[in-house]
Amino acid sequence: MVSVAFVCLGNICRSPIAAAVLRAMVDEASLADQIVVESAGTSDYNVGKEADPRAVAVLGLHGYPIVHTARQFTTEDFDRIDLVIALDGANRRDLLRLARTEQDRAKIHLLLEFDPASGPDADVPDPWYGEDTDFDATIGLVTPACRGLLEHLRQRL
Ligand code: 4NP
Repeated sequence: MVSVAFVCLGNICRSPIAAAVLRAMVDEASLADQIVVESAGTSDYNVGKEADPRAVAVLGLHGYPIVHTARQFTTEDFDRIDLVIALDGANRRDLLRLARTEQDRAKIHLLLEFDPASGPDADVPDPWYGEDTDFDATIGLVTPACRGLLEHLRQRL
């Protein structure tokens, strides 16, 4: 078993989108009993809320189902999650602040590290202030990275 958590700021746009995309790839690869995918936010702004309706709509257009309730990432999450995937550099910095040990820190990665076509330290921009096209761009950015991440996860099984 391997567990992965995507982490953004609000946990209603980017990280639930990335989780929905990776979960579909995991299902497609018949690995759902071996790879657990979840998401969380660094902030408590939206705890208990569903995903942003624009995220749900754009995911639906791409055929990705989503059932989501926002939550905040906690230090204790490092005890049960193997890979903690930050959507942008600010999220990574906040996660590094929560990490207690070198082992915790080693679990933290930036999502776009897993897209070979992406530069180092590349961010998935926050679509929250944007429009539907920005949410579509989020799916376009996270999809190749999730493919790379799935290969990485396979090797850890
Ligand atoms: P996310 O976007 O981090 O991709 O979920 C945001 C959603 C909500 C807020 C900020 C970012 N907010 O301030 O409520």
